[in-house]
Amino acid sequence: MFSKRILSAAVLVAAGGAALLVHAQGTARNEPILPLPDAVTDVEPAKVKLGGKLFADPRFSADGSVSCQSCHLPHAGGADPRRHSVSAFGKVRPLNSPTIFNVRYNTVGLNWTGRTKDLDAQIKGSVGNADTMAHDWGKVIQVLAQDQAIASEFKAAFGGDNPVNQANASEAIVAFEKSLVTPSRFDDWLKGKDSAITAQEKAGYEKFKAYGCVACHNGINVGGNSFMKMGLTGNYFADREKKGRGAEVDVDKGKFAVSKKEEDMYVFRVPSLRNVALTAPYFHDGAVPTLDEAIDLMGRFQLGREIPPADRQDIAAFLNALGGKQLEQSAKR
Ligand code: HEC
Ligand code: HEC
Repeated sequence: MFSKRILSAAVLVAAGGAALLVHAQGTARNEPILPLPDAVTDVEPAKVKLGGKLFADPRFSADGSVSCQSCHLPHAGGADPRRHSVSAFGKVRPLNSPTIFNVRYNTVGLNWTGRTKDLDAQIKGSVGNADTMAHDWGKVIQVLAQDQAIASEFKAAFGGDNPVNQANASEAIVAFEKSLVTPSRFDDWLKGKDSAITAQEKAGYEKFKAYGCVACHNGINVGGNSFMKMGLTGNYFADREKKGRGAEVDVDKGKFAVSKKEEDMYVFRVPSLRNVALTAPYFHDGAVPTLDEAIDLMGRFQLGREIPPADRQDIAAFLNALGGKQLEQSAKR
């Protein structure tokens, strides 16, 4: 289901032979947020299709208990509705899964700390990672090669004598991930269509800019392009503990846990806000269950402002308009 719905756009465009480049679209408005392309045209449909199957295949985990999709769910905006996702062998890490949608536009590196360079590096490391699949690429390939149906899809996508190998499997998964792009009504507005968003969503966007949210959440992914300290104007972690949501742990140190540099203490990649209405719970720790509270806390701990409810509602309406149109439609069905 995951692969099929998202696939259609890529397949249609490829079939039409369009040679548009993904970044070729300009913006009709001069805004700090840039529009997504209407469709992805730089990935091959056969690889995307295979990659979608592999992404949902639990044979990638050592105990067969989880696939990539177990923690990056389509109906949860490509993220995980559980506060902390559960890896192979039931291991839990105190982190909330980030969304897999639009991941190609997270330009300062992947994961909450940006420690992984790009999608190629991510897939290389994640199969053997004890915190995810706890498996071994060699064994995964062995099992896949014995599966006639999958083997023939590898053959169709890559050709050659031994198409079932790590390089091709990785390439297929990365092609799939790159195809997961979710243009929204707000993108239509950015491209010049005035009626694409409601008056309240527009008012919310103006407030998003006026409060200064846009200083950190900007660019094509409304985030994903810079690092910032969590708690610029107050101690988020003390507040969390006071609310009974857990004392500070190692991953809360953010980039510091990776670099050991003092200036990286509590620094995280500013996350994308695309589809954010679907990706609860919020923040790297998944400690905040609702979007309303996440907006309040951002006001308090990043901007030093209390946001009155009317403004918060408008901002939430704007964030809703960042939801992918395909996802909005499937939710209505
Ligand atoms: C047990 C849950 C779990 C599974 C299974 C899982 N992931 Fe993730 N994924 C996460 C978490 C948690 C993070 C953030 C890790 C961090 O910040 O250190 C993440 C991060 C990512 C990112 C980076 C996203 C970003 O915006 O930076 C990508 C890409 C990704 N995963 C792809 C995959 C693929 C491909 C697989 C299957 C091979 C997979 N994941 C399996 C939980 C999971
Ligand atoms: C100074 C930079 C900065 C400003 C200003 C800022 N944010 Fe953030 N935002 C971040 C960072 C960093 C995170 C990730 C924090 C974490 O995970 O611990 C974040 C996370 C979020 C999240 C949670 C996303 C997720 O996937 O979990 C939402 C929602 C959000 N911000 C909305 C806003 C809104 C609305 C405003 C304005 C009221 C705002 N932000 C202002 C840096 C900023």
